[in-house]
Amino acid sequence: MIATNYAIETKGLIKRYPTATRREGGGYGRGFGGSVSSFGNIFGVLKRKKGSYIEALRGIDLQVKKGEVFGLLGPNGAGKTTLIKVLCTLVIHDEGSAYVNGIDVKKEPGKVLKDLQAVLPESRGFTWRLSGRQNLAFYALLYGLRDREAEERINYLLELTGLKDRADDGYQRYSTGMQRKLLLCRALLRETQVLLFDEPTVGLDPTSAMEFRHLLRDRLAHEEGKTIVLSTHNLPEAQDICDRIAILDRGKISMCDTPEHIRYTMSDEKILTIILVDAEYNVKQETMLNTLEKIPGVHGVTPELDIDKKLARLSIRVQKDLILSTILEVLAGYQLQINGITTQEPTFEDAFTAITRRRREE
Ligand SMILES: Nc1ncnc2c1ncn2[C@@H]1O[C@H](COP(=O)(O)OP(=O)(O)O)[C@@H](O)[C@H]1O
Ligand SMILES: [Mg+2]
Repeated sequence: MIATNYAIETKGLIKRYPTATRREGGGYGRGFGGSVSSFGNIFGVLKRKKGSYIEALRGIDLQVKKGEVFGLLGPNGAGKTTLIKVLCTLVIHDEGSAYVNGIDVKKEPGKVLKDLQAVLPESRGFTWRLSGRQNLAFYALLYGLRDREAEERINYLLELTGLKDRADDGYQRYSTGMQRKLLLCRALLRETQVLLFDEPTVGLDPTSAMEFRHLLRDRLAHEEGKTIVLSTHNLPEAQDICDRIAILDRGKISMCDTPEHIRYTMSDEKILTIILVDAEYNVKQETMLNTLEKIPGVHGVTPELDIDKKLARLSIRVQKDLILSTILEVLAGYQLQINGITTQEPTFEDAFTAITRRRREE
């Protein structure tokens, strides 16, 4: 452990996932594996190995201060979930280092988890027939809280999240927003200094989403002094509660700044979404992505893969005045079939948030 002011610190973090196109003699390997010399073979294997991996994180340097509310903002496929999973020790990174309160996540995962709790959207594990309170009591037992301690903590958390009045209703009768709050209660059963949230408001209606965000900011960050990292693909959300925001594009942080600065930069951008037909994701496409990234006026390119690891979409942040044909020419050069293009101005505040904020200020 090293003494540090940072709740989270990563250096050159790289994570690779194997892709589905890992066929013997197929795809990229064919052109390189055929060499007769043994050196050529080793070379081929290495090349093929590289070709059959996707780099979800491509060298992340991140520093989150203690007590900060920090946003990871990026489109689908940018690497947000992977980064959060590395920090909560569910995914092991390939290169670089990551520390939570100065503790190495790879070397001492158990110790890291004493300080940190992640809330992932896919986690459920509540029993439908039990009440919210009973579900929490079950987890309190699992976490080793003593009866009295558990009861007090559960009452406190139900009050904190506004679930108290419905605590004894069956979980099956909870709305999506209430289920999310119960998940938060469960995450808070153990007192940890650092909390990670992966897309915490996805699927919530605007009112519940805002309520949930403000619960994180006002109660957990401001009153309890917790460090909060949350991922989102929604700029207004990040802007609403974060002290700082990092923009993630294809596994790299392209910008890390205050919401005001991020907003200023992005107000000069538009976001292109290009829908592709049945494109394989391989080393050739990676070259294509690198080429796109180098076009002046292109700020970030993120490929979105579908479930069978095919390249389904590209999300590209560009300067507002960029002529799109420069991008289309590159895609055409790689024989990519385009099925649709949408352009979108980044939204800074939906009307709803703007109105409620005005009311709060009055
Ligand atoms: N378990 C996995 N196996 C293979 N590829 C994965 C896996 N998880 C994520 N990926 C790929 O890694 C990249 C980053 O994914 P992810 O971290 O889920 O991004 P985000 O949360 O920003 O949408 C994507 O291209 C995705 O397809
Ligand atoms: Mg994700």
